[in-house]
Amino acid sequence: MKFRCHGCGAEIDAGVRLAFACPNAGLGDDIDHVLVADSETLPLSIGNETDPFLRYRQWLSPYRLARSSGLSDSAWFDLVGKLDLALAAVDGSGFRITPMAERIGLAKAIGLSGSLWVKDETHNVSGSHKARHLMGVMLYLRVLEAARLPAGENMKARRLTIASCGNAALAAAVIARAAEWPLDVFIPPDADEAVKARLKELGAAITICERRPGEAGDPCYLRFREAVAAGAIPFGVQGTDNGLAIEGGRTLAFEMAEEFSRVGVVPDALFAQVGGGALASALAQGLAIARANGLLPSLPKLFAVQTAGCAPLARAWERLDGMDLDVPAKKRSQFMWPWETTPTSLAHGILDDETYDWWAIAEGMRASGGSTVVVDESQVATAHKAGRLHTDIVASATGTSGLAGVIAKPEAGRQIAVIFSGVER
Ligand SMILES: Cc1ncc(COP(=O)(O)O)c(C=O)c1O
Repeated sequence: MKFRCHGCGAEIDAGVRLAFACPNAGLGDDIDHVLVADSETLPLSIGNETDPFLRYRQWLSPYRLARSSGLSDSAWFDLVGKLDLALAAVDGSGFRITPMAERIGLAKAIGLSGSLWVKDETHNVSGSHKARHLMGVMLYLRVLEAARLPAGENMKARRLTIASCGNAALAAAVIARAAEWPLDVFIPPDADEAVKARLKELGAAITICERRPGEAGDPCYLRFREAVAAGAIPFGVQGTDNGLAIEGGRTLAFEMAEEFSRVGVVPDALFAQVGGGALASALAQGLAIARANGLLPSLPKLFAVQTAGCAPLARAWERLDGMDLDVPAKKRSQFMWPWETTPTSLAHGILDDETYDWWAIAEGMRASGGSTVVVDESQVATAHKAGRLHTDIVASATGTSGLAGVIAKPEAGRQIAVIFSGVER
């Protein structure tokens, strides 16, 4: 099972070396290093299970690694099944296909003349889509253990680690607890008390990261990088540190594509809220795979939504203007760099100062004819309020901010899709 860096082209065998950061990352060469699994060119079959990690198993690199390493199909069911039972004990339920429905009342409320489809991730494991990303990583670790592959050597002695104080941290803590794997979470001093309490309840070890004098950059992320350098396993959702984390998120796109195909609707546009970029990059990749496998006749236009207070992807997109994407892949800092000012927004979960996984989103927007959309605070607030008033989905303002993009660009298509994620706490 090969992974290839989309920036420098380095190849790794995921059974021999951990498929997380590119081996050439950190050389300071300004290349956008992210490992991506080689796609299967054969038509892939879909199972009839309701757990996406079983249903789409042929589409997932950890499954392909398992099979090519001598594990049977039933061994995969066993790995997924054990984690599923443990997730149910820790968080109430394991992974199941999440609902997507047309929301006529919500479309009307925001003045949309076409149809609006909302995929509801608020009842997913840990209350958001983030757990999908990390389940993909955990299954990879389990396959390495079960097949006794060299990449997994001495792995149980290594702790998992993440820098986050929101949905990603909660997802990591739930999955780590289910897998009985110790987790370190690096959080800022002002992290939400309810999130902190839940992380502790789940057994995660929390480190509060103060800014150190003379230090530039996010202190939580810096401590996370130090922990990884000292041997911890990156268990966050940035593809730059862990390319494999993107993959589990693709299941969201597979589910949407399958449902659209089932109801006979061709989506014109998908609006996705973008922070670090893992979600939109997983959607872009997942939709492309779904299309290649005949689930979609064409790609919906991908619109990446950021707030006016923090829009590093929109800034990069403007600079790309018609350029061959090989150029920015080799000159990252000319397109993507940390946002200079400290932003605030009701949608605080998408204020990442860098869109780490920006390149794959740009590729997805290019391939589909989409673009970035920058929304203002009143659109963020209107989307949140309309989502609460006109649906039964209790999503946070971060999790409804994709809809703010629809409000800003209602002419994007007749069949528009958004994802509501991140239950309001
Ligand atoms: C509910 C919700 N939606 C979307 C996002 C954006 O995801 P990403 O950081 O992968 O762009 C986040 C990130 O925290 C989130 O919590």
